Amino acid sequence: MAELLHTGEELRQRLVAGAGGRGVVMTMGALHEGHATLVRAARERLGPEGTVVVTVFVNPLQFGAGEDLDRYPRTLEADLELAAEAGADVVFAPPVEEVYPGGEPQVRIAAGPMGERYEGASRPGHFDGVCTVVAKLLHLTAPDVAFFGEKDAQQLAVVRRMATDLNFPVEVVGVPTVREGDHVALSSRNRYLSEVERVSARELSRALLTGVQVAPKGPAAVRRAAQAVLEAAAGAEPPVVLDYLALIDPADFTEAADDHTGEAVLAVAARVGTTRLIDNVRIHF
Ligand code: PAF
Repeated sequence: MAELLHTGEELRQRLVAGAGGRGVVMTMGALHEGHATLVRAARERLGPEGTVVVTVFVNPLQFGAGEDLDRYPRTLEADLELAAEAGADVVFAPPVEEVYPGGEPQVRIAAGPMGERYEGASRPGHFDGVCTVVAKLLHLTAPDVAFFGEKDAQQLAVVRRMATDLNFPVEVVGVPTVREGDHVALSSRNRYLSEVERVSARELSRALLTGVQVAPKGPAAVRRAAQAVLEAAAGAEPPVVLDYLALIDPADFTEAADDHTGEAVLAVAARVGTTRLIDNVRIHF
């Protein structure tokens, strides 16, 4: 069983005792196989001597007005079990007052232009909230390596950039997205979907995988192919309501040009019913 800790002081004492390197997997709970993959990657990288810390904290700062902060699933008992099975030593699940003892922090980290495009344009302030809590959790857990899912591609890019720009002494490692049998990317928010919504949700990954198939024809063809699937999906029942589809240069999260070479991220965000879903695939041109 992993140790469940709630305060920064408990965590500090536990970590002083830990030998070997340290890895952190930051989560908002409602853990699933995608998170388990992150924890297993951490355990594999750190080895049996290392300490793997999983943080479980639903960060109010990264939710906008009208988003799902209140209904976000909270399943700590099950999270503890899944984290332990995947190889975590410690689960740090602080209450809000422990992370933000003075209420909303006056001083925050600004994600900058990288945090204002795509997800940041649809969710203003989201990446400032993410960066602020990630910085705090990096200070509290003081890891050598931090593991983030590629599913949240922009988050991974912004956190990587924050670590570089602000000299956080941590290696940020991206872990590939885990998909279910129907290719839908695992997400804690999938549990909001009804059976019929789940069928429509498949169109997101179908659009991305259709794009991948025409990758040898170049970026413009990829965009067109994925767009065509999503246009058809707008007529599905229930409809897939597109927020954005973009082919992105992962270095700075700007739109990849038609003559782009190297790695790109084909990313989509859409609403199915009341659930907002994101997904992406990496394509090499
Ligand atoms: O990806 C998430 O679950 C969250 O954005 C994170 C990194 C735990 C920060 O709250």
